[in-house]
Amino acid sequence: MKPNILIKISFVALFASASLLTAKGENHKSETILYTTYQSGGSDWVAPKYVEKLKNPLAGNAKATKDGKILFNTNCVTCHGDKGEGNGPSAATLNPKPKNLTSKQVQEQPDGALYWKITTGKPPMLSWQQTLNEKQRWSLVNYIRELRKK
Ligand code: HEC
Repeated sequence: MKPNILIKISFVALFASASLLTAKGENHKSETILYTTYQSGGSDWVAPKYVEKLKNPLAGNAKATKDGKILFNTNCVTCHGDKGEGNGPSAATLNPKPKNLTSKQVQEQPDGALYWKITTGKPPMLSWQQTLNEKQRWSLVNYIRELRKK
């Protein structure tokens, strides 16, 4: 191996680990850690511990919350219902049923866990990673917090 290739490789490794440590929502490299598969078998969908540390880069951003509402109404209501209560028109045919996003069980989870679940998906909910960008997915987390207040 030529020395300059080695330098390049170690630079990439350094960059990747630095990105993992900072885990910024806007940082594309941080997305690689989100490919981890969900736990199957159990009835509860539990996000892995490490995602709890992900910081919501749009926390408290009112414009993002508004965007999140539009995204929710476009992409999520057919299953989760217009108030997020899990009773959308498609819900009846699904197994397991869409979660009630206003519930204590969902609202108690950190932003990072909800972001991870939206990103990863779990059948019958597909992953939103390819359809919605990081900003859009964090905006949805913001809006899910709004649903609690209603
Ligand atoms: C095809 C129907 C469907 C659509 C569309 C859908 N979901 Fe889901 N969603 C589900 C189901 C079913 C679950 C429960 C999965 C489980 O617990 O096994 C779920 C779970 C979730 C959870 C995790 C709740 C928990 O258990 O902690 C979140 C968060 C979520 N959905 C957000 C969204 C958002 C945001 C959108 C729109 C971008 C969306 N969903 C679109 C069906 C759907």
